[in-house]
Amino acid sequence: MITILAIESSCDDTSAAVIQDGVVKSNCIASQKIHEQYGGVVPELASRSHQQNIVPVVHQAIVDAGISISEIDAIACTVGPGLLGSLLVGVSFAKGFALAHACKLVEVNHLHAHVLASFIETETYKPAKPQFPFLCLLVSGGNTQIILAHSYNRMEILGATIDDAAGEAFDKCAKLMGLPYPGGPHIDRLAGQGNPQAFTFNKPQIAGFDYSFSGFKTSVLYFLQKEIAKNPDFVQQNLTDLCASIQHTIIEMLMHKLKKAVQITGVKHVTIGGGVAANSGLRAAIQLFGEKNDITTYVPPPIYTTDNAAMIAVAAYYNFMDGQFAGQTMKAKARFSLEEYFNE
Ligand code: KG4
Repeated sequence: MITILAIESSCDDTSAAVIQDGVVKSNCIASQKIHEQYGGVVPELASRSHQQNIVPVVHQAIVDAGISISEIDAIACTVGPGLLGSLLVGVSFAKGFALAHACKLVEVNHLHAHVLASFIETETYKPAKPQFPFLCLLVSGGNTQIILAHSYNRMEILGATIDDAAGEAFDKCAKLMGLPYPGGPHIDRLAGQGNPQAFTFNKPQIAGFDYSFSGFKTSVLYFLQKEIAKNPDFVQQNLTDLCASIQHTIIEMLMHKLKKAVQITGVKHVTIGGGVAANSGLRAAIQLFGEKNDITTYVPPPIYTTDNAAMIAVAAYYNFMDGQFAGQTMKAKARFSLEEYFNE
């Protein structure tokens, strides 16, 4: 039996998970609430919180999994991309743990883990797994990409954002409307009560499979400035319609390129990953697209689309099976593309 302890600390969630022979046995997450009052993640505070949380979170993951430390064959952690100070906490912990317990070290790219989130299974949750090749729409706070996965460890990026990520677009629009950070879940909740056709915003025309969200964000900003100048209560009076229209526009942009990728590659299996994949409108849009076009879609539960160590554990398991181990020279990398990772 192969037992791996996995750690995620790339941004503002400290998480640890245990996986045994590909089945996730525990997944503990400590989310940092401190950033809400600042309207965004404060890197210095994030790394300090990771430092406080990491030992209790790892302890809980081991207890929940019902294993003893001596059973652990490898410790894995996210090495990047992410906030350097946050990553360093997980990487340093993993190195120390590997030395203290004489186990192997496995490095994981955070994006690789988001793509493999659809492979997470537990004792009680056994979903159908994606078949290769599949396309993954990876939409998080820092990344928006369309990835073609040929196998667990061979993936190709077909398109990516040239400026903001989809999660940033949600969060920045939410901030403009005075909603708390992170704004994505608030927009999602309010959008359910509004009219998605109430307002229209610019959708940039970008070549190929790439995305751009900065023009859209500016269009929302100018629209709100103009309307607020006429009526200072415009946002409060139209909040649900604004949220529904903003969410609808972002989903249309995301789906447009995804549909194009399906059409051009002829790939019949589609997954989503990353925090924005928790969005109810996007999940429904992907499922509907699949049903109408005979495409099999795999939509992991929201707990596995936002940052979590279960997905790190799954990626680590396939790296382990592939014989890919790291040494004590393993480094945290704020920037770490999938191309760099797969070509290492
Ligand atoms: O993947 P993630 O947890 O962290 C990163 O690695 O970036 O993604 C966080 C992003 C945030 O921008 C947050 O607003 C967004 O995911 N998000 C959502 C929803 N839940 C989280 N965006 C839209 N609708 C949601 N339900």
